[in-house]
Amino acid sequence: MFVTWILIRYYKTTKSKRKQQKDNIESSAGYHSFSHPISIKIHGPHLLICKHPHFLLFHSLSSFPSPITFIEMEWVSGIIFILLTLGLICAWKLLNWLWLRPRKLEKLLREQGLHGNSYRILVGDVKDLFKMEKEAKSKPMNLYDDIIPRVSPYIQQSVKIHGKNSFIWFGTKPRVTLTEPEQIKDVLNKISEFPKTNYKIFKLLASGLASHEGEKWSKHRRLINPAFHLEKLKIMTPSFFTSCNDMISEWKKMLSSDGSCEIDIWPSLQNLASDAISRTAFGSSYEEGKRIFQLQRELAELLIKVVTKSVIPSWMFLPAIVHRKMNEIDRDIKSSLKDIINKREKALKTGESTENDLLSILLESNHKEIEENANNKNVGMTLEDVVEECKLFYFAGQETTSVLLVWTMILLSRYPNWQQRAREEVLQIFGNKKPDFDGLNNLKIVTMILYEVLRLYPPVVGLSRNIEKDVKLGNLILPAGVEVFLPILLLHHDCELWGDDAKIFNPERFSGGISKATNGRVSFFPFGWGPRICIGQNFSLLEAKMAIAMILQYFSFELSPTYAHAPSPVVTLQPQYGAQIIIRKVET
Ligand code: HEM
Repeated sequence: MFVTWILIRYYKTTKSKRKQQKDNIESSAGYHSFSHPISIKIHGPHLLICKHPHFLLFHSLSSFPSPITFIEMEWVSGIIFILLTLGLICAWKLLNWLWLRPRKLEKLLREQGLHGNSYRILVGDVKDLFKMEKEAKSKPMNLYDDIIPRVSPYIQQSVKIHGKNSFIWFGTKPRVTLTEPEQIKDVLNKISEFPKTNYKIFKLLASGLASHEGEKWSKHRRLINPAFHLEKLKIMTPSFFTSCNDMISEWKKMLSSDGSCEIDIWPSLQNLASDAISRTAFGSSYEEGKRIFQLQRELAELLIKVVTKSVIPSWMFLPAIVHRKMNEIDRDIKSSLKDIINKREKALKTGESTENDLLSILLESNHKEIEENANNKNVGMTLEDVVEECKLFYFAGQETTSVLLVWTMILLSRYPNWQQRAREEVLQIFGNKKPDFDGLNNLKIVTMILYEVLRLYPPVVGLSRNIEKDVKLGNLILPAGVEVFLPILLLHHDCELWGDDAKIFNPERFSGGISKATNGRVSFFPFGWGPRICIGQNFSLLEAKMAIAMILQYFSFELSPTYAHAPSPVVTLQPQYGAQIIIRKVET
């Protein structure tokens, strides 16, 4: 402020000096009387223009102090003043962002008994965090060791050193780790007080429902909900069957003469999940949908490559060539999706479309909303909105379900007694027949197994939320500008919440359902919790049950000696070196 005051003083002084100088020149110029100078105001400084027609002809700028000199001087000082002020504002903002605000937030958090490292300018803990994660990922781990030191080493260390409610520095922002189920429940229930942290860099991959807030979010959630109702999922079950059947047929072809073979099931399961979401989302446009989804995978790979290499993952710091490539792919995805949507819209209007895929249900729900509101188009979703939701279906549906399936196969390979129990149940319900919706819903052992896999290997290892206004959370007052982090993986493995066998695969704990296993606490939330809970959880569980049931019908499986255990958090929790499994044809 002081410097700005000095600048204003300087400006005023130079202005009055110049006025004096100008008056002197005017009086000494004699016959060039500026009897009627016209003063034109152009954004601040005044221009003096002589009305005498010969003035500019007879007096060059260099030979005589002309009014042009004043014009220039006024302009230059004005511009300098503006630039300096802008520079000062920027410098102030930078100083505030880099140092003053983080320090203030640190003080506020420490006053409430929260602990963490002292703030380090710009990078905070990110450099150490990246280094630690890189080191953890550098080699596979022992099959029976705890996975947390490999998957979330920094958070684990922070909680160990600073206590359960501690904070780490995510760049210039402190991120408070919350580990009490009551606090987690509050955060996930109060969606307006704890909005999502949306990083622009990830919006390119998936925005839509998952990143909207307020009115827009509730409108989209209401419009998309019907697509995931159970009766709609029932209609989608044959699509799941077709996708699974294609994969099983591929595996059958690979069997050697003794009825066994070794395969890396990870790419197969990724392909299965992508195939299933293409069929269920786009129905007859499935081939085009698959091409779009391949493009999205390309985009994700590019992004992940860059993000995992940079200390500050930001859109701004992406190399220009990556920017260009990503924008190119994004344009291609959007225009292809628009084509599919426009065709489907036309078919809906002419009554030709009777498809029951996610896209049709979404468009129907949108039309109904517009009709019910007197054809007010502002009520429903725009074409761009629908495009974003389709992109999200793929990203959310493919990444997560394939991960659930791969860890289920790995754990059932390690625990053959559970594999046998699950197979017995499947054969008892379906025999060798095609699994159907009702039968899949009656699979109790398989459901317990899937829950236990989601507990030990949650596809999403943590959630974060932004604090935009000071907010009370139990005894804490969280100041605006911090983030909170809900470490799903840590809670799922916590011995205080799950007992001494917390790290052991024991699906039996879910025999009485989720609320009995958790004693009603929010200690198991692989799909999130509260109003923003995963909209696709039933979709995903149904698909996973279909896949596991069919695999169990046809094959028994075990881990190959070449398998290297390496759970790695790349957006979702993936097997870093794949999942080499030996499958054998089941004799029934
Ligand atoms: C094993 C499978 C899945 C897991 C573990 C999973 C996990 C999650 C989690 C943890 C959230 C909450 C994120 C947050 O609160 O910040 C979420 C939200 C969401 N999921 Fe899933 N998901 C799965 C499958 C799916 C599928 C198959 C779809 C769609 C086809 C889907 C679509 C969504 C959407 C749209 C949201 C945002 C909901 C909202 O904000 O209202 N998910 N998911």
